[in-house]
Amino acid sequence: MSKGLFITGTGTDVGKTFTTALIVKKLRENGLNAGYYKAALSGAEKIKGKLVAGDAKYVCEVSGITDGPESLVSYIYETAVSPHLAAQIEKLPIEMNVIDADFEQMKTRFDYVTVEGSGGIICPLRRDEQTIMLTDVIKRLNLDVLIVAPSSLGTINSTVLTIEYAKQSGIAVKGIILNGYMEDNFLHVDNKFQIEQLTETPVIACVPKNSNDLAIPLQVLTDLFKEI
Ligand SMILES: Nc1ncnc2c1ncn2[C@@H]1O[C@H](COP(=O)(O)OP(=O)(O)OP(=O)(O)O)[C@@H](O)[C@H]1O
Ligand SMILES: [Mg+2]
Repeated sequence: MSKGLFITGTGTDVGKTFTTALIVKKLRENGLNAGYYKAALSGAEKIKGKLVAGDAKYVCEVSGITDGPESLVSYIYETAVSPHLAAQIEKLPIEMNVIDADFEQMKTRFDYVTVEGSGGIICPLRRDEQTIMLTDVIKRLNLDVLIVAPSSLGTINSTVLTIEYAKQSGIAVKGIILNGYMEDNFLHVDNKFQIEQLTETPVIACVPKNSNDLAIPLQVLTDLFKEI
């Protein structure tokens, strides 16, 4: 039986890939067969005519996954816009049954699957005759989430809203990772305190800039994963 965890964030570019790489690295360093999956990636770079799954490539490099990064992402778009729009422009609509099948394959390949979302918690993946939101994927894969949030000014608003929305959508939030955290910054310290109090959700790790390790015990990390 495999276990999974979904990583979302308060928005795009908040460090989901950066922290996911540290999670997968920690699991693998401890001898666990840990992998990565992302349903839809937009804004991919094209190198020698081939789209590169940048997020997956980064996670593989940091964590030592040797599988080809493109095999860990279901849909890769070149256009740097929301997946639903990139899919429309590139005429490659996202199908839930493809995500289902690819995720099933991840379960056979890995014991611990860390899944990275696209954008923040409200992210349309398909908006035509069908609507598929990121939250539909999280629920379909039957995963709980971890929220990656900046440590800086504005994070109380975006983190509390993200967690409220997740809960309202029927998704369980296991914890928060504060990224870019500085222990000697009084604003970061207070943000951590306020967010924990207001959301009743633990900050399970604080990740400083350029960190190469996730400072939490292995058991705490593996306990976040749910049987899938
Ligand atoms: N703690 C950190 N220290 C140094 N650089 C960081 C840190 N966190 C994020 N970054 C850098 O910030 C940029 C955005 O981070 P990242 O790609 O992880 O965001 P993301 O939330 O995954 O974005 P997307 O929505 O595109 O998937 C990257 O260049 C990444 O290397
Ligand atoms: Mg990313």
